[in-house]
Amino acid sequence: MMGKGFYISRSAGRAAIVLGAIAAATIIALSIVYNQERQKKASSANGGGGEGAVTIAPTSSPAITTAPSNDPWNKYRLPDTLSPSEYHVTLWPRLVEDQNGMYIFTGSSSVVFTCVKETDLVLIHSNKLNLTKINGEHLARLTAVDQQAVPAVKDTWLQVETQYLVVQLDGTLTAGRSYQLDTEVVATTQMQPTDARKAFPCFDEPAMKAVFHITLIHEPGTVALSNGMDKETINTTINGTEATLTTFEPTKRMSTYLLAFIVCDFKYITSPMGSDNVLIRIWARRKAIEEGQGDYALRVTGPILKFYESYYNATYPLSKSAMENWGLVTYRETSLLYDPNISSNGNKERVLTIIAHELAHMWFGNLVTLRWWNDLWLNEGFASYVEYLGANYAEPTWNIKDTIILSDVHRVFAVDALNTSRPLSSKEDEINKPEEISQLFDSITYSKGASVLRMLSEFLTESVFSQGLSSYLNTFAYDNTIYTDLWEHLQRAVDDSNVSLPRSLNEIMNRWILQMGFPVVTIDTSTGGLSQKHFLLDPESAVTRPSEFNYEWYIPITWMRTAIHKPLTTTGNEWVLANVNVTGYYRVNYDIGNWERLLDQLLTDHQVIPVINRAQIVDDAFNLARSKMINITLALRTTEYLSHEREHMPWESAIDNLNYFFLMFDRSEVYGPMQVNAIWLACKTGVASCQELTKGWFRQWMQDPANNPIHPNLRTTVYCSAIAAGGVEEWDFGWEMFRNASIATEAFKLRYALACTKLPWLLNRYLDYTLDPNKIRKQDATSTIVYIGRNVVGQTLAWDFVREKWEYGGSSFSFSNLISGVTKRFSTKFELKQLQQFMKDNEEVGFGSGTLALEQSISRTQANARWVAENKEPVLNWFLSHSG
Ligand SMILES: *[C@@H]1O[C@H](CO)[C@@H](O)[C@H](O)[C@H]1NC(C)=O
Ligand SMILES: *[C@@H]1O[C@H](CO)[C@@H](O)[C@H](O)[C@H]1NC(C)=O
Ligand SMILES: *[C@@H]1O[C@H](CO)[C@@H](O)[C@H](O)[C@H]1NC(C)=O
Ligand SMILES: *[C@@H]1O[C@H](CO)[C@@H](O)[C@H](O)[C@H]1NC(C)=O
Ligand SMILES: *[C@@H]1O[C@H](CO)[C@@H](O)[C@H](O)[C@H]1NC(C)=O
Ligand SMILES: *[C@@H]1O[C@H](CO)[C@@H](O)[C@H](O)[C@H]1NC(C)=O
Ligand SMILES: *[C@@H]1O[C@H](CO)[C@@H](O)[C@H](O)[C@H]1NC(C)=O
Ligand SMILES: *[C@@H]1O[C@H](CO)[C@@H](O)[C@H](O)[C@H]1NC(C)=O
Ligand SMILES: *[C@@H]1O[C@H](CO)[C@@H](O)[C@H](O)[C@H]1NC(C)=O
Ligand SMILES: *[C@@H]1O[C@H](CO)[C@@H](O)[C@H](O)[C@H]1NC(C)=O
Repeated sequence: MMGKGFYISRSAGRAAIVLGAIAAATIIALSIVYNQERQKKASSANGGGGEGAVTIAPTSSPAITTAPSNDPWNKYRLPDTLSPSEYHVTLWPRLVEDQNGMYIFTGSSSVVFTCVKETDLVLIHSNKLNLTKINGEHLARLTAVDQQAVPAVKDTWLQVETQYLVVQLDGTLTAGRSYQLDTEVVATTQMQPTDARKAFPCFDEPAMKAVFHITLIHEPGTVALSNGMDKETINTTINGTEATLTTFEPTKRMSTYLLAFIVCDFKYITSPMGSDNVLIRIWARRKAIEEGQGDYALRVTGPILKFYESYYNATYPLSKSAMENWGLVTYRETSLLYDPNISSNGNKERVLTIIAHELAHMWFGNLVTLRWWNDLWLNEGFASYVEYLGANYAEPTWNIKDTIILSDVHRVFAVDALNTSRPLSSKEDEINKPEEISQLFDSITYSKGASVLRMLSEFLTESVFSQGLSSYLNTFAYDNTIYTDLWEHLQRAVDDSNVSLPRSLNEIMNRWILQMGFPVVTIDTSTGGLSQKHFLLDPESAVTRPSEFNYEWYIPITWMRTAIHKPLTTTGNEWVLANVNVTGYYRVNYDIGNWERLLDQLLTDHQVIPVINRAQIVDDAFNLARSKMINITLALRTTEYLSHEREHMPWESAIDNLNYFFLMFDRSEVYGPMQVNAIWLACKTGVASCQELTKGWFRQWMQDPANNPIHPNLRTTVYCSAIAAGGVEEWDFGWEMFRNASIATEAFKLRYALACTKLPWLLNRYLDYTLDPNKIRKQDATSTIVYIGRNVVGQTLAWDFVREKWEYGGSSFSFSNLISGVTKRFSTKFELKQLQQFMKDNEEVGFGSGTLALEQSISRTQANARWVAENKEPVLNWFLSHSG
């Protein structure tokens, strides 16, 4: 028996109770109500999170000492006076060091723009570019497209803080006329420009779309790739140097952040072109391609593109997809290459979902682009949601859609339940500086974005959702939007359908995106009563961020139950289970009687309850216990049925939650009994026979390095436990294999496992390695330090290391990961003091985009400390009574 409906306020809600029946058979009416006026007091903490792929580039951000004046070049946003239409860019990156040991590139560019409002100033982004004076005069030259006279250039300079090339004119540009600006880059020592403004001067904001004509000059024998299809490749001599010149087809109208240039000696594989004329090529290291590691990516890219074409009802707008850049998607090796002999199933799944994510952006993000970064959540959340649909189409037997629950919903619940969380959507004028933009690339943006859009698609139904999308994409192709444009097109699709909503889409969704956090819905099955409350992990935390919606939500409720009765009430051994398949972004609590009946059901026949909800029951119970809404013993009891569980999701959910116990208790007397009980974590907890087994396999490998006897799916665990149980010999062997690994996924497993050793000197040496890019690549340094910090022996070492050695500021997407990773298990007053001291000591320098992460670490540590104090005894008792 299933049901669904909306939970809206009592006062207005009674009249609008029934949610129209859509296709499915048994949908009963529902009435739901929420309690008015609740206190928003609460608290508790956990979280951290952050994204996987990180790049460490510690740079010290210049301290701003002068008060910024009101001049346009001191503002981070471009004025609305000019609009670019076309760029011509020639770049010549050198792949070998020059006589000063630098990698440099040179180049020239011109941009045609139209004057929208009269102005005597041209501001164009330019960062770290060494521009040269044209004819010895100024850093740029201005001409008119219609050859008419233009005002003379008065002065040009680079405004470092705001990253502009400023061109001051003697007279004004005329609205409606078009001009051209030429610049030349002498030499820039940025080997891999990460922003367009580091490659050539450009109007580097997403709404400044233009057509790009790109030419790359490169060494003969290398390949040049960019967004457009290569049109012409010629060998020639430039200034006495032999060079190859590759010219690309002009791009479609697109944003600068999507540009990509690559010069490499890669090889590619391609599949025969289908009727759709889309050319798909997978480029990678020669050896990797020869070994067939790109085959899987090639096999799934075509089907995923097909799926999106029908899902979006919009054809793929380009003629090629070489792999979130438009027409040229770049991936880390672990995300693209898959070797069936060495990589695990998990690696394969990752390849699939990342490709599906990036391809989803080809439409949502690239074809239609949000106007400004404050709407990043919609762009990334969207791709993070539909990636599951695209991946599911390519591998229909993998149940991949279900994995969003663990990877996104549960993951972001942990962060979004803190009082230091933030709303999904930010105001446009709050996001200006590069570090404010980079701070947005967090799990709220990706995972909450995905979870909330999934909820929306589920209550609208997929067909209405995709119809609205299609209308949005077709209306705004090659243009820019704000999120309300999407709501408007979805609302139209709703109006054309049989779906009825109790409120406008806008009213319903604003509560999910404009206020942080999410609700816990409590169902009292003895009365059928329902209430909602802002869920906070730490019941003592105070919410200081105001919300115009009072932290109340319109909640789509679905439920299932054992028998038909009055909605949401039960008799006898009947139970109610709400949030079927966790399509809603909220937690659920029940009266104790219903909890008991659900536990009974799990023990007698757990399969009556959908697998996603079995994982939910465990996760909700543990988190409700942490926020003191239920007793911790009840939460532990949800794991008792697991001996019958054959699906991995509920196990994973239990392990994630029990991991918190390990983090909190493995330095205490609770550890002993916990160790005996937790068979499923046998190796982790050091059960002797498990360790013997893994150590034996590892030894066997050490004797014959060419023949690794360990099954790919087990390697992560086996390597880690063998290195943990072993000594320097195991470690050094692991290191050698890491250095020698030709497959990125294999290298990753070893790099992770090397952090598992229990020997402090090895861990210290490993920490030092992270500072040497010849040993550990910069992009891997943060995660390596975080792995070491998760090790009970490594925790203080990593923390001391971070405090002593780290230069932060600047690009601190990585710094926020580092700080939340290394402090994850902090739970003592002493650790709290250290964190607060660390914050104080570095106040002057600041923490850039890591600021929020540091605040969250402090509130998490406070909550952990309280939790440990309160729960040590009942947890100890439960494990004692369940040991042996
Ligand atoms: C920029 O170019 C000038 C002249 O070639 C040179 O002296 C200076 O060192 C360069 N600066 C950088 C950052 O490359
Ligand atoms: C350019 O030179 C490279 C290496 O010398 C050669 O492999 C390539 O075929 C040449 N390309 C053309 C278009 O002649
Ligand atoms: C060739 O050299 C001249 C003079 O040094 C310079 O102005 C020009 O930009 C160079 N051409 C390229 C393509 O680098
Ligand atoms: C995988 O192993 C099989 C059998 O050992 C071998 O034939 C095949 O070439 C290997 N594949 C790759 C991509 O190395
Ligand atoms: C798909 O698009 C076509 C043409 O743009 C339109 O006629 C058709 O109704 C659309 N289908 C759906 C399901 O939106
Ligand atoms: C709406 O409901 C009517 C009657 O039940 C049905 O004929 C029609 O197909 C439905 N339309 C959609 C878009 O589901
Ligand atoms: C979170 O709650 C703690 C504990 O009450 C409080 O000290 C802190 O100021 C709160 N932080 C925010 C951002 O509301
Ligand atoms: C819940 O998810 C499962 C897949 O895990 C699916 O088979 C089932 O149909 C879903 N139930 C509902 C009511 O959507
Ligand atoms: C938890 O609940 C059980 C029974 O439901 C009770 O015996 C126990 O005392 C409670 N523990 C705590 C810490 O409240
Ligand atoms: C390292 O890799 C090379 C090439 O793959 C192989 O020949 C060599 O034996 C490896 N070294 C060890 C110690 O396995």
